[in-house]
Parts: sequence; C-alpha cells; structure tokens
Amino acid sequence: MNTHFDWLAPVYDRLIRRFSSLETMLELADLPVAGRLLDVGGGTGRVAEALRPYVEQVVVADASSGMLRQAVSKDGLQAVCAGAEALPFPDESFDRVVIVDALHHVADQAATAGEMWRVLRSGGRIVIQEPDVRTALVKMIALFEKVTLMRSRFLSLEQMAALFPQANAEVTTREEAFNAWVVVYKVPV
Ligand SMILES: C[S@@+](CC[C@H](N)C(=O)[O-])C[C@H]1O[C@@H](n2cnc3c(N)ncnc32)[C@H](O)[C@@H]1O
Repeated sequence: MNTHFDWLAPVYDRLIRRFSSLETMLELADLPVAGRLLDVGGGTGRVAEALRPYVEQVVVADASSGMLRQAVSKDGLQAVCAGAEALPFPDESFDRVVIVDALHHVADQAATAGEMWRVLRSGGRIVIQEPDVRTALVKMIALFEKVTLMRSRFLSLEQMAALFPQANAEVTTREEAFNAWVVVYKVPV
C-alpha cells in the first residue's frame, strides 16, 4: 500500500489547490442528482466537499487513514478506509462514482474499474479525472512521482476506456487543459 499520502495528509489541502474543475465535473457527472455519490481515492475530501451540495450523500473511500482524518473534519462527508480494488459496498449502491487524480496511484487499475462498475447503479455514471500525461507539466509530475517511488502508472484515454469492456458500458472521453476525463454510463439493461 502506498503510504506517501499518510505523510502528506496534514499539508495536502494547502499544497494542492482547490478543485478547479467543478463545472466540468458537474456537466460530465450529470449533477445535481437525488442520490449517493462515491469518491474513490477521495483523500482529504477536497473534491467531495465541492460536490456535496449537488447530491444527497457523499462517501469518500481511501486507503490512507491520514487523508481520511482530514475528510471527516469537513461538513457532511462520510469516510471509509478501503482499497479501491475491494470496495466494501454492496452492488449497485451508488448513483455516481468519481475518481479524481487517483487512478494512476492505485495498485490495480483493472480491479479498481471493476469495483467502481460493480457499486454503480444502473443508469448511473462513473467519472474519471486524471492529469493529461501528454503535457510537459504532467510528464514532470510523473517523473517526480517515479523518483519518489510512488509507483504511479498513468494510462492513456484509450487505456482508461478499455477498463470498461462491459456490453452496457457507454464510454466517452474528453481532454481539457491539463486534464483527461473518462465518463462511463451504465446503460440500463
Ligand atoms: C493525489 S491524491 C488525490 C485525492 C483526491 N481525489 C483529490 O483529488 O484531492 C490520491 C489519493 O489516492 C489514494 N490511494 C492511492 N492508492 C489507493 C488505493 N489502492 N485505494 C484507495 N485509495 C488509494 C491516496 O491515499 C490518496 O488519497
């Protein structure tokens, strides 16, 4: 398990600027919605806090207890310490599932995608936001994370889309500024 984030947790919100992609996230996740949202690898709740007004309930799941200590200090957020590869939630228990700046950190990206799909309700959406690894700045960040042994693995948009091979997965992608987005709609069958 990647423990870097336990160390970073107390200063994370001061180092990383506020969630600046809110408008795009609201559009791609089709928010607001009367339902539950799961923020996988949600860390300090930086993103979940911004999305809180647009859903009934927000749950932050993260492997780092240090990061989650920050999340629970924020109003209205529920936090669950769990690896993204084995989410402790029933099938189809969330209307939206988001993962922001975390997919490249998880140990098993295919298992993570499978779990996000499993817990998503029919008719719901998964939204993935990742740094766009084709840009020079993100390439430098990737190198830094490699040097510091964070074991990050950045995927292309095509590779992320391919994580959802299910027949009823409708996948769209978008590149915007320094971000790569993947939206997965679970078509009711
Ligand atoms: C760069 S932070 C992003 C946090 C948050 N999504 C945000 O944008 O502020 C990456 C997060 O992924 C979490 N993480 C890394 N590997 C994980 C795993 N296998 N399961 C769950 N969380 C994981 C880390 O603990 C960390 O909180």
